Amino acid sequence: MNNWRQKYHIEPKSGWLNDPNGLCFFKGYYHVFYQYAYEPEGGNKYWAHLKSKDLLHWEEAPIFMAPDQEYDKNGVYSGSALIKDDTMHIFYTGNVKQKGDFDYVYAGREHNTVHVTSEDGINVDSRNVVMYNKDYPDGLSCHVRDPKVFEYEDKYYMVIGARTMEDKGEALVFESEDLDNWKHIRTFETMARIGYMWECPDLFEINGQWILMACPQGLEGGKYEFQNIYSCGYFIIEGDFRSNGFITEYKEADFGFDFYSPQSFAHDGRRLLLGWMGMPYAKYTNPTVEYGYQHCMSVFRELDFANNTLYMKPAKELESLRKFSFEYGEENTEYKVLDEKRAFDLELQNFGDKLEIEIFDTLKLDFDAGRGDLELSFIANGYGRDKRFLKIKSIENIRLLIDASSVEVFVNDGKQVMSTRMYPSNYSNIKVSGNIRGKLYSLDI
Ligand code: FRU
Repeated sequence: MNNWRQKYHIEPKSGWLNDPNGLCFFKGYYHVFYQYAYEPEGGNKYWAHLKSKDLLHWEEAPIFMAPDQEYDKNGVYSGSALIKDDTMHIFYTGNVKQKGDFDYVYAGREHNTVHVTSEDGINVDSRNVVMYNKDYPDGLSCHVRDPKVFEYEDKYYMVIGARTMEDKGEALVFESEDLDNWKHIRTFETMARIGYMWECPDLFEINGQWILMACPQGLEGGKYEFQNIYSCGYFIIEGDFRSNGFITEYKEADFGFDFYSPQSFAHDGRRLLLGWMGMPYAKYTNPTVEYGYQHCMSVFRELDFANNTLYMKPAKELESLRKFSFEYGEENTEYKVLDEKRAFDLELQNFGDKLEIEIFDTLKLDFDAGRGDLELSFIANGYGRDKRFLKIKSIENIRLLIDASSVEVFVNDGKQVMSTRMYPSNYSNIKVSGNIRGKLYSLDI
């Protein structure tokens, strides 16, 4: 039997999942599209589609787009949605590999920006290329992809990730008045190179601050940062993003093993973000492949900006799934899971300098203020995952969203986050030691 089926995270029944795409709220439903392949180890990319009224229960909709056009025959790649006048507008990258002896980095690859409309949010009404390789600025390789669109002060903007001929990552910004004619207005770049390519950029305002999120590929790693081969993080923008605004220091958004290509959207006064709980070309693996599927999404996270930092907290809807299970205090430090439950929400206040949490004899979190870090390590069943570190001096509170095969760790109200897959062989206990107080809830869905 497969115990690793997620209870409250989005994952495919069969096949492969990667980036979340086209996130929006449209005609009473939240929509999640995602990069999908029929083969569990990846293949030609489609857009799979789910919709939900509450961000918790998801209905499967038919596959939205297949790589069935000349301009996207090697993959309906990542993109985003914009709602205008009761129509869903989708922008994505049509990936084409020309036939020939190419490396597909500097030649032989087309990345077409495609505009799609849908009146009902289920069926495609129109699908047209709005930008070809020739319409992008000079000096770029053929890696130009992942359009994120939004409306601001009566104009439309699109940010696209790019790799230059000098192998430097950057983000291109385009402007439009009609969604079909796009003009390149500027490029976000850094003096010192931050990765060779920026995938899945996102540009938004949160709490009065403009932020550029991106996934730079190929950063040099250290003990406390860029521990994954591909990174996911953000830049704070000083000034107007349309003109002379510039980006400052790059900060990582998640310090775990599995978090990549997130996308955000705004609805009802909140900015929600969903990420892929996976990592391209990682050395570690996911044993669900044996069961014919691979990868899942993170939980939806609510964004906030304070103390010069982007905060990510689990969306408040998740609290409605809580059923009280156990109270941790000075005397009770071990919860024995006696039922079949594998999905939990653990919330702890921490008053000490040391804290240890052990989940299902699989994963351990070890905080030591003297050492100045929180270490996430595998006791077993990491499938190649070993250790990740978070540099941190004090933990006031910590929240763990545990599902059958993942843990997302939110530290100090979501100021720092670590996400990882895990594949326990039993679900026997959740142990905590330290000067703490807190509650464990099972999550029933
Ligand atoms: C990021 C990414 C995107 C691309 C998509 C293809 O994970 O490589 O840049 O559009 O996945 O599936």
